[in-house]
Amino acid sequence: MFLSVRSYNFRNLVNERLSTEAKNIYLIGENGQGKSNFLELIYLLCFGGSFRTRQDELLITQGKDNMMVEGTFLDRNSQQNTISCKLEKERKEIRQNGKIVADRKDLIENIPCIVFKHEDIYFVNGSPERRRLFFNQVMGIYDIPFLEKLREYSKILRMRNAVLKEKKLDFLPVLDRQLAASGLELVERRKSVTEEFSPLFSQVFKEVSGSDMTIKLRYQPSWGEAESLEAVTALLAEKQERDLETGMTNWGPHRDRFCFYMSNKDFSKIASTGQSRLITLAMRNAQAVFYTAKTGRHPIFLIDDVLLELDRGKRERFIATLPEYDQAFFTYLPGEQLFTGRGSERCYAVEGGALNEYQAGR
Ligand SMILES: Nc1ncnc2c1ncn2[C@@H]1O[C@H](COP(=O)(O)OP(=O)(O)OP(=O)(O)O)[C@@H](O)[C@H]1O
Ligand SMILES: [Mg+2]
Repeated sequence: MFLSVRSYNFRNLVNERLSTEAKNIYLIGENGQGKSNFLELIYLLCFGGSFRTRQDELLITQGKDNMMVEGTFLDRNSQQNTISCKLEKERKEIRQNGKIVADRKDLIENIPCIVFKHEDIYFVNGSPERRRLFFNQVMGIYDIPFLEKLREYSKILRMRNAVLKEKKLDFLPVLDRQLAASGLELVERRKSVTEEFSPLFSQVFKEVSGSDMTIKLRYQPSWGEAESLEAVTALLAEKQERDLETGMTNWGPHRDRFCFYMSNKDFSKIASTGQSRLITLAMRNAQAVFYTAKTGRHPIFLIDDVLLELDRGKRERFIATLPEYDQAFFTYLPGEQLFTGRGSERCYAVEGGALNEYQAGR
């Protein structure tokens, strides 16, 4: 749980320290006031990056040339920790309890954080890449070796693509073997995770949507049935001509697909807007349940504008079916707030980047 945060020149937020010592924090304000900015600040302290942009310089208040954010949180042993992130002249410095954090992945086990955001809708109706990203997140928050594998695979893929572009055929056999070996580990991990995740997701979807529709999730590896080093290298050799033509690798875990099915039909093609949103909420809830099952820990939720497409009953159901969490931050437009009734709460009115606490009347 975050006990307090402080920001200096972060987006439009007013520079000050804020207490966040409550299980539920509600941020209520009109459009463009700084609600999502505040969630972004929390996320930055959890993972050392933003969930909205890769361009760190956008985080610095316009007209300034540096920014700093800092948060104090209780870790799983109830010890207080301070984490800070400083940006100056394209240099980012993250510190935990004063010590520099060299690799962002070292932060991951600190504060498991799950964001529910508007763009999650693309997990349902966007490109296959979006769904891969979701599953990378599902695994990434508890399985650091998986993240390392992903990095390794991407590195080999970049090398193979460069070789394909330059038509250096002699290098291909070695790279094919490396790509196959590294990729097969990813496929193996994805297979076992979807096997566990899919029934969980189907169940959570029923709870969140209040319907008895069975939506199943299926994993379709781009290498298909090829599951051994020999089979994959043979496949890569067989498809080499096309790869050379296009100057890139057209098959592999970077092209894997995850699909939602209802009675064997691709559900994402027929889902209504509200149903698509319910799928994304179920995906995030299932991510949390899955994480807790794997680690015994509860995540922090950042819930940003994801209830807008839903009718009142569905919104209330979503709030009621949220899995166990350590702390949750909710953003609401004025008059739209829903309280969880679970543990301590604080309400902040957000206006022009300033957060002012008030007593919520129900
Ligand atoms: N680097 C920056 N410097 C100054 N202001 C910024 C910066 N980045 C974003 N802003 C401002 O922050 C505001 C947007 O804040 P935010 O996205 O948190 O809004 P919000 O309260 O979540 O609104 P909505 O309800 O529309 O989602 C805008 O007014 C934007 O101009
Ligand atoms: Mg917002």
